[in-house]
Amino acid sequence: MRVTSNSFAPRSASGFIVLEGVNGAGKTTLQNRIAEFFKTNAQEVITTREPGATALGKTLRSLVLEHPQEAPCEMAELFIFAADRAQHVEKIIRPGTARGAWVISDRYFYSTVAFQGYGRGINQNTINQINALAIAETRPDLVILLDLDPATGLQRTQRRQHEPVTGTDTFEKETLAFHTRIREGFLSMADSMQEAFAVIDAAQNQQHIFDATLPYLQALLKAPRVGVGA
Ligand SMILES: Nc1ncnc2c1ncn2[C@@H]1O[C@H](COP(=O)(O)OP(=O)(O)O)[C@@H](O)[C@H]1O
Ligand SMILES: [Mg+2]
Repeated sequence: MRVTSNSFAPRSASGFIVLEGVNGAGKTTLQNRIAEFFKTNAQEVITTREPGATALGKTLRSLVLEHPQEAPCEMAELFIFAADRAQHVEKIIRPGTARGAWVISDRYFYSTVAFQGYGRGINQNTINQINALAIAETRPDLVILLDLDPATGLQRTQRRQHEPVTGTDTFEKETLAFHTRIREGFLSMADSMQEAFAVIDAAQNQQHIFDATLPYLQALLKAPRVGVGA
């Protein structure tokens, strides 16, 4: 469900926030700003991402993104992301929120709905079943969707400097039409899913994007923490 900065008044917070959007939308950039915000407010922060946050996940990430000799078929790709996610939830997300940290993830299962569902065309029912098994009901307090024309995102990633691996991964090689379906998928999730989605125009400059996010973060900080246990 889409929320606005006025309508977002969570009654409690588990401490889990997700950033979504097409490649180059500015997720990693915003993640760093959000982490600073929480640290400034004396909160512990864990910044994390999918795929590849855990030790196992790093191996899984390379299987799906880095030109394997044999590319996984669509269903294998879905399972590899799900395995990465299950490990991420178990080893990082739930332990982090359980000890009171704010866990901020660059991508979560919404990306699987977008990429493997809207992008690859795998049946949404199948995707929902696999995702449900992987996340074990671990849902974020807020999804910040950085909405951007994928062509602009692509131009940005070609200039990107803060990530060690340059070059094109499996998805960066996909067509613009594929990435346009991803964008539309995210927007339709914002309308149809139960979670709170803050949809932010990511064509703005970084400061404006952060300013648009700030009221949501303040609302989360005010909400009483509920323990989501490890
Ligand atoms: N609002 C913005 N306007 C212009 N460039 C941006 C903006 N946000 C991020 N960038 C730049 O675009 C590139 C991709 O940003 P990044 O945060 O890595 O995106 P993502 O994690 O969503 O792929 C980086 O070089 C970053 O500095
Ligand atoms: Mg990123």
